[in-house]
Amino acid sequence: MSTKPLAGCDLLGLKGLDRETLGHYLTTAAEFEKIIKRDIKKVPTLKGKSVITLFYENSTRTRTSFEAAGKYMSADVINISGSTSSTTKGESLRDTFLTLQALTADCIIMRTPFSGAPEQAAAWVDVPVINAGDGMHEHPTQGLLDAYTIQKVKGPLDGLKVAIVGDVAHSRVARSNVWGLSTLGADVHLVGPNTLMPRDISQLPVTVHNTLESGLAGADVVMVLRLQLERMSKALFPTAREYHMTFGINEATLRYAKPDAIVMHPGPMNRGLEIGGDLPDGHQSVICQQVTSGVAVRMAALYLLLGADGIEG
Ligand code: CP
Repeated sequence: MSTKPLAGCDLLGLKGLDRETLGHYLTTAAEFEKIIKRDIKKVPTLKGKSVITLFYENSTRTRTSFEAAGKYMSADVINISGSTSSTTKGESLRDTFLTLQALTADCIIMRTPFSGAPEQAAAWVDVPVINAGDGMHEHPTQGLLDAYTIQKVKGPLDGLKVAIVGDVAHSRVARSNVWGLSTLGADVHLVGPNTLMPRDISQLPVTVHNTLESGLAGADVVMVLRLQLERMSKALFPTAREYHMTFGINEATLRYAKPDAIVMHPGPMNRGLEIGGDLPDGHQSVICQQVTSGVAVRMAALYLLLGADGIEG
């Protein structure tokens, strides 16, 4: 791989990225994790560069970690919310992106409820566009941070059994993880009721289970998904109580997995619904590690896509 293979590229999804490229993001993130573990976690890597985040949906982790990532690398980070942007006055997405580029953005990071919008926007501008989550499509930096976290705790992903449990149908996190983890050699299993499985399930490199007992059997990693009630136009399971009894991950149901299985959740969590109240705080949980990995991975993404000269600047 050449020295700056990703400079100027977009990061729109993990589908189609090869193993070498995914590995490049992960090894670069490991270098940035060393920096954010220092007392002074600031490097001049992106001094003079401007990064704009444009979020049309709420976020705690993704937006904050992109902002932290940019600031730790000395970039100027400007945050725009969809609700306060001129989109509310009828400005088109194309005009919005052309305006952000004219404002001299070096990179635009976008979250949107519309699947495919970042890919469309990337065609309108010359600067790298990063998809920070688009509808039910992809959330590539989440997929990368999840792969990074698993690799850090469990070692190489080859042959690891990863069970992704819950509302797969509405989950861009699941989709990015399916593509990213399977390319990196993991054995990916999806677990949940058929009503929460995507229509194109037969085209995904996964095994599907409708019970926790079969889906979690022998799992090294149990990744729990949030029930995305805001994306459901009709009831897809009888009651919250019944969902928790059938597909909720708690101390009892986690016993179907390997004794040393780790528990992941991209957040935000619905405690007591898809995940039992104490499990996120237990010794098998790596949920807080996922958040920290997110900063390192997003630093790596900005570094690689902006083609910076050396991590220390
Ligand atoms: N995992 C994730 O995307 O969280 P936020 O919605 O808080 O960014």
